[in-house]
Amino acid sequence: MKALMITSLSGPDALAIQNVPEPAAKAGQTLVRVAAGGLNFADFMTSKGGYPGTPAPPLIAGREFAGVEESSGRRVMGYAQWAAFAEKVATYSNMVWTVPDGWTDEQAAAFPVNYFTAYLGYWQAGMTQPAATGKKHRVLIHAVAGGVGTAAVQIGQLLGVDMYGTSSSDEKLARVKALGLQHGINYKQHDYEEVVKNLTHGEGVDAVFEMLGGEHTAKSLRCLRDFGRVIQYGTATGKAPQLDIRAMYAKSASVQGLWLTYLSQKAEIMGPAWERLSAWIAQGKLVPQIGHVFPLERAVEAYKLLQDGKNYGKVVLRI
Ligand SMILES: NC(=O)c1ccc[n+]([C@@H]2O[C@H](COP(=O)([O-])OP(=O)(O)OC[C@H]3O[C@@H](n4cnc5c(N)ncnc54)[C@H](OP(=O)(O)O)[C@@H]3O)[C@@H](O)[C@H]2O)c1
Repeated sequence: MKALMITSLSGPDALAIQNVPEPAAKAGQTLVRVAAGGLNFADFMTSKGGYPGTPAPPLIAGREFAGVEESSGRRVMGYAQWAAFAEKVATYSNMVWTVPDGWTDEQAAAFPVNYFTAYLGYWQAGMTQPAATGKKHRVLIHAVAGGVGTAAVQIGQLLGVDMYGTSSSDEKLARVKALGLQHGINYKQHDYEEVVKNLTHGEGVDAVFEMLGGEHTAKSLRCLRDFGRVIQYGTATGKAPQLDIRAMYAKSASVQGLWLTYLSQKAEIMGPAWERLSAWIAQGKLVPQIGHVFPLERAVEAYKLLQDGKNYGKVVLRI
């Protein structure tokens, strides 16, 4: 079968389509004929050796897909650690979900990582239930126009959250505002810490969805109000998060990690999340935002779009 191979951990240019043997399903796994792959920032990080636990190359790229389960003929969307960008993938049965009625392969491939991550961000921030005070929860979402970001905006709107979001581009912010983002912040033109402070009358937000790392972790912490939480789920800058623990004392704030790979193994967490997400899908309230679709042959271009931060919403590969 054809597969997108990571031939060395030296970035997107080391990706190549090669013929490899078809996978065999191990115990607990199912075989899926793949139609589309969802590209994640983690795939770009993996390609350059920046993702923890990456096996030594050569290995098949890709962690998210949609296609047809060979044993049942059912259309499924799924999440795997590796090997999704190929004509077939062997994947754990508890990590595939039935494709919602009316969804295309591209939409299905754009769903699992972004929507579970965004939902679990709200869950970790204590926002999947209304605020006890009766007031709206407030969240600051970094990379609000990206894959996880656009999912977080759709879910935040359904949860009734007051959302602040950052992006490098006014054009991208205009598109996310149409999805329900109330406060867009172009961080190339404005200091997001200042904007959040001003718009919240000095109070700050209840949570920050933080995936940049470096100085942004400390800066995001300063955007919090009392008892607020930074949900740290990535380091797109490639820099280790900077943090002054003492700055947390003043407002009883916390920083909490979120890693879907870990949480996805916990049925008691994924089950209720899927129940809530699938109910919203059935009501037509969640629609994956696909910014770009590439054939597998142009995967290098697709990876570079993420590398350069030029994508809006999800980048999908047609396989
Ligand atoms: N922990 C988990 O389980 C988990 C799960 C999914 C994703 N993530 C993390 O969440 C983040 C978003 O993932 P995604 O797949 O949805 O990607 P994405 O947000 O669609 O793309 C990345 C976006 O980040 C912004 N960005 C800011 N600084 C950047 C930089 N130095 N380099 C590149 N982009 C930069 C860019 O948007 P602007 O130009 O608009 O700022 C870019 O479009 C990534 O850090 C990823 O690793 C973590």
